[in-house]
Amino acid sequence: MIEIIDLTKRYGNFTALDSLHLQIEKGTVFGFVGQNGAGKSTTFSILATLLAPTSGTAFINGYNILNEPKMVRRQLGYMPDFFGVYDQLKANEYLHFYGASYGIPFSERQNLIPQLLDLVNLTHKQDSYVDLLSRGMKQRLCLARSLIHDPEVLILDEPASGLDPRARVEMREILKELKHMGKTILISSHILPELAEMCDCLGIIDQGRLVAEGSVSDIQDKLKGERVIIVKIIGEIEKAAQFFEDDPNVSKLSIGEAENTMQFTYKGTDYEQTELLKRAINHKIAISSFSEVETDLEDVFMEITRGVELS
Ligand SMILES: Nc1ncnc2c1ncn2[C@@H]1O[C@H](COP(=O)(O)OP(=O)(O)OP(=O)(O)O)[C@@H](O)[C@H]1O
Ligand SMILES: [Mg+2]
Repeated sequence: MIEIIDLTKRYGNFTALDSLHLQIEKGTVFGFVGQNGAGKSTTFSILATLLAPTSGTAFINGYNILNEPKMVRRQLGYMPDFFGVYDQLKANEYLHFYGASYGIPFSERQNLIPQLLDLVNLTHKQDSYVDLLSRGMKQRLCLARSLIHDPEVLILDEPASGLDPRARVEMREILKELKHMGKTILISSHILPELAEMCDCLGIIDQGRLVAEGSVSDIQDKLKGERVIIVKIIGEIEKAAQFFEDDPNVSKLSIGEAENTMQFTYKGTDYEQTELLKRAINHKIAISSFSEVETDLEDVFMEITRGVELS
């Protein structure tokens, strides 16, 4: 598990991270979302013990990043948002090199490395020079590298950035597999809907501060408090629209372009919503569909980072 306590990083007068508090339980996939410069990579570098915080600390599986960095590194697989230069190394040699630097004996590496290459779908490229791999392949190789010592916690800085749609889907599948292996994963991205699909929880960071945290639906609920409902009916749409419009929780009702549909904003509770549906049916409105529109996560993200107060 990851526990971040009051973590602050200043560069001169500039505060890049401001009293960050966060607890991520074992086995959770946690998505860290924020705009450019929000402080994601700064946080990750500190957790990976590559950058010293100005104040505060963090614990990885109970080990303090400040005074137990070696133990922390043993728990952690870190995938940075940049690649190094690899002089004339082939993909499997590259993994052997990192494996050896973690003290993994050659015989063990001989079993392990094919498995890792298989996990990240690079078996066919094991004898290719790293520099000649495509960006997406380098990213997957980097992920394999971060897994070489079988760490329990993974910190992945924008693993899907710059990937084409197919490569992103593949990366998502790999992450799903890692989650099934029980790893605790902290992952950053700008692509909020994608993160939401693979994460259990989200944290939104803005100008070095955590401005929202919780499950994806928690974050949506906190911000919205109201939902959009689409109703499709058989029969007279105007009469049905009048019925819904009379409900005090209904606003912004509009009749859709699609035949016999209407849309409105609803601010009642779940219970009130079911009562509304019951009353509509009792009122002999022939409803063929009554559904809530998923809130667009990008909108939520934009609203939160625009300084909307969350209760
Ligand atoms: N060495 C440094 N000296 C001064 N300022 C720095 C340094 N490193 C980072 N910063 C600043 O700290 C802030 C946070 O940077 P960070 O790289 O953590 O953002 P990020 O959320 O990872 O952004 P991105 O989405 O662009 O990767 C930025 O304003 C950045 O300019
Ligand atoms: Mg970054």
